[in-house]
Amino acid sequence: MDRKIAVLAGDGVGPEIMNEAVKVLDAVAERYSHHFEYGYADIGACAIAKYGEPYPERTDMMCKSCDAVLFGAIGDPAYDNDPSAKVRPEQGLLRMRKELGLFANIRPVEPYPSLYGVSPLKESVIRGTDFVIVRELTGGIYFGEPRGISEDGTRAFDTCRYSVDEIRRIADVGFGYAMKRRRKLTLVDKANVLATSRLWRRTVTAMQKESYPEVELDFMYVDNAAMKLAMNPSALDVILTENMFGDILSDLGGALGGSIGMLPSASEGSSHSLFEPVHGSYPQAKGKGIANPTAQILSAAMMLDDAFGLAVEADAVRSACRSAVENRVCTPDILCDGWSTTEQVGNYCKQFILNH
Ligand code: IPM
Ligand code: MN
Repeated sequence: MDRKIAVLAGDGVGPEIMNEAVKVLDAVAERYSHHFEYGYADIGACAIAKYGEPYPERTDMMCKSCDAVLFGAIGDPAYDNDPSAKVRPEQGLLRMRKELGLFANIRPVEPYPSLYGVSPLKESVIRGTDFVIVRELTGGIYFGEPRGISEDGTRAFDTCRYSVDEIRRIADVGFGYAMKRRRKLTLVDKANVLATSRLWRRTVTAMQKESYPEVELDFMYVDNAAMKLAMNPSALDVILTENMFGDILSDLGGALGGSIGMLPSASEGSSHSLFEPVHGSYPQAKGKGIANPTAQILSAAMMLDDAFGLAVEADAVRSACRSAVENRVCTPDILCDGWSTTEQVGNYCKQFILNH
């Protein structure tokens, strides 16, 4: 199979973990006789430095001309501490999601049994956890207008908006996952306070009745969902939720398994798809060889599976990551003594794929 992949490593540890993911993809190509071509492009703080904007036109063209996008991370502390910055790296990611129409963000949370010991939860609580967060990605308070700050700088406002169409298309994705899994869908919202949440409930309830009667649908307020994630995560199957709640809960999901450095994600739309780790750019770790490349490598596995239909190859990559952890080839977020570098983890996965 011939495929072209847009590679957007971004900022912080993005380039280091991306190197390892590309290494693993090269091993897949060699082992299974595929040909992957890579189109490199800039996004985030590095793009601002080069082109004055976080998502330049040529990056957009690169994404649109490729079969899938593999993305690393963006963000730079220089901007975090400067609330007056006119352009911010994060705008690049948001613009890209919007521009590519990536309305569905899929974040599976399935901690490895061999890592139950590093979970902050008791083993009896974390055991059997296997759920997926289906997060709406191009609407809600992230994009709603009007937004801004008053002229005198004393008041600021954001707007949360959702239309029935936006809710329906992401809910279809959520129901689709539930049908493939344990047929349990939990809509997470704040319907006791927010009008948008009440629209979500009404729309999703009607869809369940009309089109997905086999799926058991339940509802959870987001504050309660945070508690359930920490107290009884194994009871969850598919969480369907809006943009901001999904953002917050997926970091919590990452913490459950002991390290957010393990969590991949897929962002999908009707004509493009993008794969990225759930974690951010981790600038403190940049250049130290300590960043966990697993989330990036597993994101590449999701790409092989979802975008290219290469299920066997994707499984080989997942087995490689699992084997690395079982053999304690892990970065220091997981292993205190005798940890491996970012590169050693990537090399292990590469060898595993070539030898199996
Ligand atoms: C994520 C990130 C982004 C988000 C940031 C970097 C804009 O936290 O992908 O979860 O909030 O969506
Ligand atoms: Mn986030």
